[in-house]
Amino acid sequence: MSYTIAICGKGGTGKTTLAALVIRWLMNRHKGASILAVDADPNANLDEALGVKSEKSIVAIADDIAKNPSQIPQGMTRDRYLEYQIQDALSEADGFDLLVMGRPEGAGCYCFVNNLLRTLIERLTKSYAYIVIDNEAGMEHLSRRTTRKIDLLFIVSDYTVVGLRSAKRILDLARELEISVKDTKLIVNRAQGETNKLKEEIGRTGISLTGVIPEDEEISELALAGGNVRKLDETSKAQEAVNKICEGLFRR
Ligand SMILES: Nc1ncnc2c1ncn2[C@@H]1O[C@H](COP(=O)(O)OP(=O)(O)OP(=O)(O)O)[C@@H](O)[C@H]1O
Ligand SMILES: [Mg+2]
Repeated sequence: MSYTIAICGKGGTGKTTLAALVIRWLMNRHKGASILAVDADPNANLDEALGVKSEKSIVAIADDIAKNPSQIPQGMTRDRYLEYQIQDALSEADGFDLLVMGRPEGAGCYCFVNNLLRTLIERLTKSYAYIVIDNEAGMEHLSRRTTRKIDLLFIVSDYTVVGLRSAKRILDLARELEISVKDTKLIVNRAQGETNKLKEEIGRTGISLTGVIPEDEEISELALAGGNVRKLDETSKAQEAVNKICEGLFRR
């Protein structure tokens, strides 16, 4: 049985950074466990955060097959070919694999593949112990193409009242989708002090606050130098905060 962690939140709140830090925690804490990183943000950059070069996106593969069906080898069904191509597009990195969903369909809509894709992805993801999904702000894309079962949903907010209000709206949106979420936790990122000042607003979100990640200069420096989060020191403030959050949640 795989355990699915999904991360969502308003733009720029630190979803991709958190996904990368959670993946690093999983790799350290559960050595050898199979981990799948899923970039479900159309404006994908989880590959960069993880320092991996991504292969073709799932949407690009499906579009390509729909446009040029003649590429399907004789005797192979379209579904089988698509499955084969998706397997092939998995980037295998040291300690995890990466699947990039790609942009949502544009004018030429190939929605017919959505159900098929979901089935294929559900089958594929079953073979992993942990799946970590980096989402766009809402989760429409996710609900259409990937799993409909999430064990743990992290909603990331920045250290502002506005950010927290948006976290609440995102939770409401997520509830409208056909996704079953077992547990939802709030994370305040880039905190520049105590969360006491935001206590009331945090309460109003109705989401339980599971941890606070401080503003980490090491991340800013890395970002300035064009480096990826994987290069971040293991003892950096942000990584330690994420370790603490994960230890707390995964204590059994
Ligand atoms: N704890 C932190 N301390 C300092 N900088 C941070 C921290 N978390 C994230 N950042 C920086 O904030 C910016 C946005 O982070 P990130 O890309 O992870 O957000 P995102 O929510 O994935 O954004 P998008 O909505 O564009 O996908 C990045 O430049 C990142 O380096
Ligand atoms: Mg991102």
